[in-house]
Amino acid sequence: MVGAEDPETFFETAPPLRDADAVRTKLQEFNARNSIISAGGVDRRPTVCVTSGGTTVPLEQRCVRYIDNFSSGHRGAASTEYFLKAGYAVIFLHRRGSCQPYCRFLPDDSFLKFLDVNEESKVQVAESHQTAVKESIWDYCKVGYGGGSLLKLQFTTIFEYLQLLRMVATSVSTVGQRGMFYLAAAVSDFYVPWDSMAKHKIQSAGGPPEMRLSQVPKMLAVLRDQWAPLAFCVSFKLETNSDILVQKADMALNKYKMNIVVANLLATYKEQVIIVTNGARNTVRRRNSDEDLEEQIIKLLAQKHSKYICGSQMDATRV
Ligand code: PMT
Repeated sequence: MVGAEDPETFFETAPPLRDADAVRTKLQEFNARNSIISAGGVDRRPTVCVTSGGTTVPLEQRCVRYIDNFSSGHRGAASTEYFLKAGYAVIFLHRRGSCQPYCRFLPDDSFLKFLDVNEESKVQVAESHQTAVKESIWDYCKVGYGGGSLLKLQFTTIFEYLQLLRMVATSVSTVGQRGMFYLAAAVSDFYVPWDSMAKHKIQSAGGPPEMRLSQVPKMLAVLRDQWAPLAFCVSFKLETNSDILVQKADMALNKYKMNIVVANLLATYKEQVIIVTNGARNTVRRRNSDEDLEEQIIKLLAQKHSKYICGSQMDATRV
């Protein structure tokens, strides 16, 4: 493995995003939809960028094989629903094919389980799932798409993810204090730089391949210092060893100047998290199997974000 590259080199050598112009347009439209023009100027709904799912690291430019990350995207999808409910406009930056807001309860194996054929040979939702589907459609239309407050952007590779994150972070909707980053995606730490990657499928006849992995630059630092210095930043810390979890979360909080770090362990991340802020550690636990842990997390974050916005406004009036 070689040392961490600087962010500039990472972006200069990454394959360019194929649909960059289309994404830019979508961000502008989203921004306009979620701005309110009043006598005092342009006001914006609080906006959060939720990152979700795992990034891949391709091993070949014409990619057949890649290194993947375990994340299902459930946390990001559930959190998006609760952010929308709390009045946020949400940019849901997610892995293609990962879990989606309002679709979390659809069966994994076959969506046919949800369907029946009635006496007139028409397809309908099975009686047993009517309530769940109706509620999901209702929320999806009202808060999500119908309201124009949910923008979905997709990535697969680490190259796509970081380029999209940069575009979102420098777009108008997330740069000020009303912008929040909720970085729940499982982001690759190591990758094969594009220019040293095999062009074609690696041949087994050549024996076991040897490749050097480089370190992906930690973009939290760039996000905080350059892209969106005023935004409210929430990063996640995932560990497998409970002895180092909080210490690593504290380190991330200080080193990357995050507002909050949500610390979780692989073995228990669906049941509890520790919310680490400057000077406080708050354990949030799922109270029963019907409850989403994300409901409590988002409630807490929305409160802290709101205080942060008020604090910044008071500072501005004092100046
Ligand atoms: O999707 P689910 O299956 O529901 O799982 C949810 C989750 C366990 C993936 C989620 O709760 C979680 O912990 N996500 C963060 C996982 C992770 O990448 O942790 P990390 O310790 O490797 O990175 C810490 C932070 O640094 C992350 O917020 C990441 O966005 C950021 N990072 C990581 C690598 C990198 N090169 N640059 C970064 O900025």
